[in-house]
Amino acid sequence: MKNVGIIATGHIAEKAATTLAAMDNMECLAVGSRTLEKAQAFASRFGIPRAYGSYAELLADPDVELVYVAVPHHMHFEVTRDAILAGKPCLVEKSFMMNATETAAILALAREKGVFVAEAMWPRYMPVRRMGREVLESGIIGEPCMITGTITYNVSDKERVQKPEMGGGALLDLGVYVLNFVRMYSDSPIEKINTTCLRAESGVDATEVITMVLADGTLASVQASAWCQGENVGVIAGTTGYLVFDDLIHPTHIRVCRKRHVVEQEIPVPPQFNGFEYQFMACKEAIEAGQIEAPQMPHAEILYIMHLMDRLRAEWGIRFPGEQ
Ligand SMILES: NC(=O)c1ccc[n+]([C@@H]2O[C@H](COP(=O)([O-])OP(=O)(O)OC[C@H]3O[C@@H](n4cnc5c(N)ncnc54)[C@H](OP(=O)(O)O)[C@@H]3O)[C@@H](O)[C@H]2O)c1
Repeated sequence: MKNVGIIATGHIAEKAATTLAAMDNMECLAVGSRTLEKAQAFASRFGIPRAYGSYAELLADPDVELVYVAVPHHMHFEVTRDAILAGKPCLVEKSFMMNATETAAILALAREKGVFVAEAMWPRYMPVRRMGREVLESGIIGEPCMITGTITYNVSDKERVQKPEMGGGALLDLGVYVLNFVRMYSDSPIEKINTTCLRAESGVDATEVITMVLADGTLASVQASAWCQGENVGVIAGTTGYLVFDDLIHPTHIRVCRKRHVVEQEIPVPPQFNGFEYQFMACKEAIEAGQIEAPQMPHAEILYIMHLMDRLRAEWGIRFPGEQ
């Protein structure tokens, strides 16, 4: 499995094309856009051999072995459904779908057709996740008690972030990362949630705080904002020390501290291209092994997080137009 087809030509599609161009054992074979001009311009910028003026034409290319879905949230369902119906394995950008209803339908379709589908929740696939879990399991910080994390990027000028009908707001764009951060480092189910959000003028969630009590007694408190710029640090505090992830999406190292702020270890992440490559490698491995899901981000976990985000939006009274 080698040939990736990218659907769409926006910001994250560019990052994927740059990443694939730097990889040895995978490459971008084709790009599909709503217009042929954009597809051709994108293909020539990134040295992609084939350019299509519609998503359907890319899906009909028999040589495309993995489709990377890089359209805005409100298009994820339609594009992924069409790709699965065309028999194409898919890596879908986060948030996987607009809600749990769409997610359950896509995962059922993937099961029925025996087609691989994964969410491009890229920190899940990085070596840092295994490293963090190993440090926790070593017992160096004692029993984990509290997980805190913040993710803030001011992306409020983007149409897709502002518009409710495009699945806008901080939660699906950024909040999904802090929820994944909690779930990546704790397997304990979430039992209780307290949350509040501030809305943008368009009605989408701009800034939010989410506090969760996990079944094992851990308290997780996370914040997300698409309307301000802050420091995106993640901390796991235990009875005898704490871990600091200098950036909870894309850490450069994990700092292990004991009481009195003594830094015991600073564990760097392995050399990498930009961290995006791991999700593509994971897809390749899973597809070659005949799996329909990535072990790093199983279907049940994608659905769990989508249900969690539905619950948060329900607490805030936010529904996307047309949602039941
Ligand atoms: N993993 C990450 O770090 C990361 C970062 C940013 C975004 N994302 C995710 O990636 C997805 C796309 O985000 P982006 O920032 O790349 O968005 P973007 O820059 O706005 O690009 C989206 C692309 O989707 C296509 N598209 C199809 N229907 C559209 C519509 N109705 N309106 C606008 N564009 C439409 C367009 O490509 P064509 O015209 O060529 O078809 C457009 O260039 C989202 O799900 C987002 O959450 C992930």
